[in-house]
Amino acid sequence: MGKRGIEIIGLNKAKLLKMLNAALAEEWLAYYQYWLGARLMEGPMRSEIEPELLLHATQELNHAVLVVTRIIQLGGTPVLNPDEWPKFSRCEYEAPADPYIEVILQQNLRGERCAIQRYNEIADFTNGKDHTTHQMAVTILNEEIEHEQDIEDWINDLDRMKKDLQKIRL
Ligand SMILES: [Fe+2]
Ligand SMILES: [Fe+2]
Repeated sequence: MGKRGIEIIGLNKAKLLKMLNAALAEEWLAYYQYWLGARLMEGPMRSEIEPELLLHATQELNHAVLVVTRIIQLGGTPVLNPDEWPKFSRCEYEAPADPYIEVILQQNLRGERCAIQRYNEIADFTNGKDHTTHQMAVTILNEEIEHEQDIEDWINDLDRMKKDLQKIRL
């Protein structure tokens, strides 16, 4: 980024770059978790939810694009090796070893809550000090909140379906 663009930032740049690199690693891990989980998933509503999870995956990848662009603008070095993703990431990568739809959704839900915390922290840290990063963090935060809501809604629908089936059996 141009010199002036970096000078106007009124905060600890090294700390911000660390947070952004953590976010970048988290986005890639979230992307793969969604992308693979959507394909392995089994159970009720699978055909409806699969394309939605693939859409979430694409949106996580778009977040990675926004974050890496900002890291480079700030003169930082993005995480260079996928080996480092789990070291940088605070969100756990949860392998979709059990393909049951509810297990996959719960794994992704934990990931979204972790992402919400991350972007909330970046938004707080940059508030009033780095408008560009702040705006980016809020944009991504809004999408992570939508993702969390989507998943909670699907879990509720699945619960309701199970309860309705139990009533029929009784
Ligand atoms: Fe994301
Ligand atoms: Fe998300």
